[in-house]
Amino acid sequence: MSEKQQIATVIQKVINYEIESEQIIALLEKPKHAHLGDMAFPCFTLSKILRKAPNQIASEIASQLDHQLIHQTQAVGGYVNIFLNKEIITKNVIETIIKEQTKYGEQISTNESITIDFSSPNIAKPFSMGHLRSTVIGNALAKISKKNGYEVIKINHLGDWGTQFGKLIVAYKLWGDPTRIEQSPVKELLKIYVKFHEEAELDDTLNDEARAAFKRLEQGDEEALQLWQWFREASLKEFQKIYDLLGISFDSNSGEAFYNDKMENVVEELKEKQLLVESKGALVVELENMPPSLIMKKDGTTLYVTRDLAAAIYRHETYGSTKSFYVVGNEQSLHFTQLFLVLQKMGHEWANGLQHIPFGMMLKDGKKMSTRKGKIVLLEEVLAEAIDAAKKNIEEKNPSIANKEEIAKMIGIGAVVFNDLKNYRMHDIDFSLEEMLNFEGETGPYVQYTYARISSLLKKGGFHHKENINLNGLNEKAWSTILTLKDFPTIIVKSFENADPSQIAKYCLELSHQFNKYYANTKIIDESPAQNAKLALASCVAIVLSEGLRILGIKAPNEM
Ligand code: ARG
Repeated sequence: MSEKQQIATVIQKVINYEIESEQIIALLEKPKHAHLGDMAFPCFTLSKILRKAPNQIASEIASQLDHQLIHQTQAVGGYVNIFLNKEIITKNVIETIIKEQTKYGEQISTNESITIDFSSPNIAKPFSMGHLRSTVIGNALAKISKKNGYEVIKINHLGDWGTQFGKLIVAYKLWGDPTRIEQSPVKELLKIYVKFHEEAELDDTLNDEARAAFKRLEQGDEEALQLWQWFREASLKEFQKIYDLLGISFDSNSGEAFYNDKMENVVEELKEKQLLVESKGALVVELENMPPSLIMKKDGTTLYVTRDLAAAIYRHETYGSTKSFYVVGNEQSLHFTQLFLVLQKMGHEWANGLQHIPFGMMLKDGKKMSTRKGKIVLLEEVLAEAIDAAKKNIEEKNPSIANKEEIAKMIGIGAVVFNDLKNYRMHDIDFSLEEMLNFEGETGPYVQYTYARISSLLKKGGFHHKENINLNGLNEKAWSTILTLKDFPTIIVKSFENADPSQIAKYCLELSHQFNKYYANTKIIDESPAQNAKLALASCVAIVLSEGLRILGIKAPNEM
């Protein structure tokens, strides 16, 4: 039982009224100021039920609370302020972290699995900033889910099907240069794709050719299929460079094309359940208070949503997942609302476990960083720039360090990823390299730097884990760091419940901040009997920081 649960249980006993301990846990707050205690229980809700003044209830509870974890209580302004027993809590927290190491905060297995659909770029198109956000957020959510006891299936739902492939095939046959495509697939394919659109403005027969080419592709024509496969593989190889840089992998790269032979069943099922309605020659599912979902076009071709229907059913059958996250930009909200509603209409109860995880835009100087015609922001270049800037920083601050390249990569990537994750995902984020690399700002490098400093401290002080560390050497100054360490498991749970990695990023900043304050006021290596206790605290902070960063998809260098 966590400390919070234990305390909620004693409060529950004292109240002498039927109230769930969960409800008490939810009410427990952290006071704004340390002099008001470590926890506070507001009595206003109870006051309404019991018809007594909040202050009276608070005094009654305060006078009766008795537990080894509680050092002292006060009734102030309708609150019971609780001062914890620092000695016991300190011992619990530090011993637990040292024993559990990176497993600290891990929740027991749920025996359930979750599929996470993220990244999902489009073949032959640039990997956009939106895809970067999806990749980074999705990867963090995958790690958060795992830490919360789920089996996780990471799916890259590639955009690898659709009429644009007909256009690409025609464009390739007219203007394609195989060597250049091999060298720089996405750039070259985009170039001939844009040219196709320009030429088709002047000559509409090109559009007919493209439709015919896509039809051939759908019918399994050898040549068309081979070209498609080549475009797909070449693009994927290029995307892979980004995944390697970010250290991200998938369990499945089955994209839209994978569902080609699985849609017939879906359409059948919709027909059987009498959900399909004809509308101007097309087949749609009608929805309340919302545009209908278009399932099949007049010409018999299927759509994005048809493939997503097939995908959802396939995933449920294949992985038995009880939950699914779709990490996709805000602009696709209607699509996912419709998708989930159609599945519910089909009577698939498991569709209640599907969740769209939307996010805002990436801005540069207040404007959207997009892939407009001709002016593409190539993501690889952006990441390379971040790594370069990190390298310059190292050259200035710590030029004698070994593995400069490796460390610059960790810092540059860490800066970009942390910058993305530290704000609630629905907020638009600003892309400023200078700011995100600032060692003293609210940045990834700041957290990494805190970790690196502790690593060298531990090395210098020769800290070894011992059974029964004497913790008497930790004074009042260490308390806020210990309280923050104690919070980590709660943050793990909350970040999953809200599908919100920013809670972990903010936590890492807070823990770094608390520890740096402690360190600024305390000489840790002083050869005194208290040294080992102080090093034990530092070691716990290092364990939790590196675990927090790992969950966010960021590496923690031992020096920088
Ligand atoms: N490829 C799509 C895009 O770039 C995202 C796919 C998201 N996943 C899904 N199951 N629809 O817009």
